[in-house]
Amino acid sequence: MYYSEEIIEEVLSRNDLVDVVSEYIRLKKQGSSYFGLCPFHNEDTPSFSVSPDKQMYYCFGCQAGGNVFTFIMQMENYSFAETVKYLADRANITLPQPEYSAEVKKALKEKEILRNIHKETAKYFYYNLQSERGKVALEYLQGRKVEEKIRKLFGLGYANADYDDLYKYLLYKGYDEEFIAKSGLVIPRKTGKGYIDRFRNRVMFPIFDVHNNIIGFGGRVLDDSLPKYMNSPETQLFDKSRNLYGLNYARTARENNILIVEGYMDVISLYQAGFKNVVASLGTAFTYQHAALLKRYTNEVVLVYDNDAAGIKAALRAIPILSSAGLKIKVLQIPGEKDPDDFIKEKGPEAFRDLIMKALSSVMFQVNVVKAKYNLENLEEKIQFTKEVANILAKLNSSIEIEVYSEQIAEETGVSKQSILEEIKKLRAIRQKENRKINKSSFSTNESENNLKSSSQQKADEKDGLYKAQLNLLRLISQNETIYQKIKDYLSFSEFIDPVLSKAAKLIYESYGEGRSIEAAKIINHFENLQEQNQVATIFNEEKSSVKEYDVEKAINDQIKLIKRANIDLKSRATTDIYEIQALIEQKKQLEKLYINIISG
Ligand code: CTP
Ligand code: MN
Repeated sequence: MYYSEEIIEEVLSRNDLVDVVSEYIRLKKQGSSYFGLCPFHNEDTPSFSVSPDKQMYYCFGCQAGGNVFTFIMQMENYSFAETVKYLADRANITLPQPEYSAEVKKALKEKEILRNIHKETAKYFYYNLQSERGKVALEYLQGRKVEEKIRKLFGLGYANADYDDLYKYLLYKGYDEEFIAKSGLVIPRKTGKGYIDRFRNRVMFPIFDVHNNIIGFGGRVLDDSLPKYMNSPETQLFDKSRNLYGLNYARTARENNILIVEGYMDVISLYQAGFKNVVASLGTAFTYQHAALLKRYTNEVVLVYDNDAAGIKAALRAIPILSSAGLKIKVLQIPGEKDPDDFIKEKGPEAFRDLIMKALSSVMFQVNVVKAKYNLENLEEKIQFTKEVANILAKLNSSIEIEVYSEQIAEETGVSKQSILEEIKKLRAIRQKENRKINKSSFSTNESENNLKSSSQQKADEKDGLYKAQLNLLRLISQNETIYQKIKDYLSFSEFIDPVLSKAAKLIYESYGEGRSIEAAKIINHFENLQEQNQVATIFNEEKSSVKEYDVEKAINDQIKLIKRANIDLKSRATTDIYEIQALIEQKKQLEKLYINIISG
């Protein structure tokens, strides 16, 4: 959905940030700003500031920042479009109906029909469960101690045993066969024409997306027959790799983490016990999309897996995926041969809360898995163990973490901390060597590079420096048009490497190019998701820098060179053409001579 600049502008101007924030927290005026307790982190002294002039907020404690849109997105966990709608309603602005192409219109119409079919079906299943025919299923759920309130909240139902009960019902409700087929709720008969129901004689679990639309179903048999669970196939509505069961509730649970479990019943059982921050992947392995989805709502996840080979394997597979999204990961193993549902019923919520408290960091979990493979009394095996552990630790970015974990492992296993660190050092040396080989355009062969720094740490530092250079430069440009005028011919917006900063740079360049000044709020509005908006907000949040002019000039030149060098490196990594590589080396040489006079001339 896209709203015009004018509409965004109107929504923005008719929702004063101070008013909006005041609906959530108490603000006190202090100078030209307002201060209050930050709603995004726990604190006792107010470090959350709102500037009525800039219509921006910034927290000096947790660095959250942005405008009225990001504030509502963050407070309510809304998407950008939802936020526009919310704020428009708040200011009594009628939003125009967006215009779509015929093709898009058709797809939207189809989706709407499929959503209606799913809603109608869920209602029907729900009705069945309370009816005479659904008695067996109701008794089954009661036997599993699911309370009525929870049954309602999760919309649990029952698919009748007849082979085409739902199919007939949907036809009777007036839906076209074409769409009923597309919903995935029926399957074609093997012989002849027509369809039969996919789910028969099962307890039904509707699957919601984060907006509470029903997009599919899972169905469980009432006995021990197989398959135990059946799920909707992928459809226009249902993408298993992008949806998580329970996320519609977990996302507003306002806990500092989200629990990830394996099954439908685990989600329901934990929710009933008061743990509303719980989701399950839908009978599929964890994907990067799942991880990114979770990152929108939390910074920490707790993997809750069954204490069996399959559970451990699933956890080990999920860890690198979750970690790549920047999530902090803990692993909770249910003791004994139990799943979370069994555990909570047997031991109660307090015991489960205790398990959460005692959950291991993903590193210690990985180490424990390795530990279980070896007999540490045996010298050979102890060596092997040390090697594997070093391999896990060498991937960490922080040397403090490495230090702490080595210490803990040494204590627990009797392997000396020194030998673990020694092994890590060896691994890094090998990796550094490999990295140099790979990086064929290694211009900055800094041979004397501190050997203690892991290559991944080194990369992270470089990335960090590069990122800071881009950010600082954009800050300076947006605060001062003269700087923009001086550098625009040397550095184009497309040379900003970070995709979000590059897009921001484009907008800033365009504004100046069209003779307009830089308005932070308007630029932020071009970014649809919260993380990006917050990232862009950091360009505008910094106070004016107080460094001397000469230092600024030097800093700008250094930053431009750093960014241009990184661009050349990127290009040279992407090519195998020797002439192009030579040309790039030449460019790099020329670059060293570049100096832009900013103060004079
Ligand atoms: N699952 C599935 N298809 C199967 C088996 C399992 O999609 N044939 C998915 C379901 O989402 C299920 C989850 O994997 O909830 C975990 O399966 P499992 O541990 O076998 O079942 P439980 O969740 O313990 O189910 P229950 O407690 O109802 O026996
Ligand atoms: Mn179970």
